[in-house]
Amino acid sequence: MDKTIMPREQLGICAEGNLHSIYLMFNAIDGVEAQLRPCLGNVAQYIYELTDLYADSAFNGFVAVGANGWDSLYADVRPALLQPFPALAEANRDAPALEYDLFIHLRCDRYDILHLVANEVCQMLEGLVELQDEERGFRFMDNRDLTGFVDGTENPKGRNRQQVALVGDDDEAFRGGSYVHVQKFAHNLSKWHRLPVKSQEDIIGRTKQDNIEYASADKPLTSHIKRVNLKDEQGQSMEILRQSMPYGSVKEQGLMFVSTCHTPVNFTKMLESMVKGDGHGHHDHLMDYTRALTGSSFFAPSLDFMLKFQD
Ligand code: HEM
Repeated sequence: MDKTIMPREQLGICAEGNLHSIYLMFNAIDGVEAQLRPCLGNVAQYIYELTDLYADSAFNGFVAVGANGWDSLYADVRPALLQPFPALAEANRDAPALEYDLFIHLRCDRYDILHLVANEVCQMLEGLVELQDEERGFRFMDNRDLTGFVDGTENPKGRNRQQVALVGDDDEAFRGGSYVHVQKFAHNLSKWHRLPVKSQEDIIGRTKQDNIEYASADKPLTSHIKRVNLKDEQGQSMEILRQSMPYGSVKEQGLMFVSTCHTPVNFTKMLESMVKGDGHGHHDHLMDYTRALTGSSFFAPSLDFMLKFQD
């Protein structure tokens, strides 16, 4: 492909927020790679086309391939930085790895369309994969996490979303793709709601009702935004594009955390800073009120990469 032309990205990677989402995690059946490869191209193209067809309902989605499953599907080429999930554990804070071969993320402002497409996609993949996990996400109030705090405020905006989320020229074969990390967090909401609002705000580093960022000097070192707001060695902000949404039922509920980025390094450093802390005893106190049940690492290639393997 002409170097000046950016391959087409899968549109769900950088899309704006939606009302509903479906998370489908699959493992591949052994020995079906030759059929699965073209089929994944078909699924990615189908999702891409539906983005136009259901534009009124802001439909979007993407297909991502697991770090562990990558080599059996695409033996000859691998994204330069694709690694298994950076599992961590420290005291009562756990960030376990639970890898899947395939992640299909679908989002839409109409739940019926989403349900229909999810069924359709599963039918296309029938006989090639086994569905391991399915969750459905929803917009809660005005884009709040179930803790009651607005989530996503400091996400990259406009064209910066592409810059943060998509691989550029440094990995030629994978331009337009994205490193994806997913963690299913189950909140302990009864414990959280017993906290006074001021203590909750100190844990996040923003006010609850009005979503105002604390002044720098007032941000506790143990607040979430202090722990994840990182700079690299050149003093540049390390950014990720978060596509998280609340999920669940009364029995188990929390945040499906989804990060997309041009590098896996930023997510890894942030997670380390939350779980391990700053080396001076300051970990992210949000972790005392939520538990990561899963942790999975994927790469979502450009649509054009996936279509190369069609029959
Ligand atoms: C910011 C919630 C997990 C990275 C925020 C904010 C909230 C929040 C309420 C402030 C508003 C905003 O800018 O979006 C949560 C919850 C989590 C969670 C409830 C899980 C239970 C994570 C994880 C990471 C992460 C695992 C990365 C490893 C970030 C980043 C920001 C942020 C980069 C923006 C910080 C800034 O620049 O101010 N999160 N988060 N979050 N979160 Fe999380």
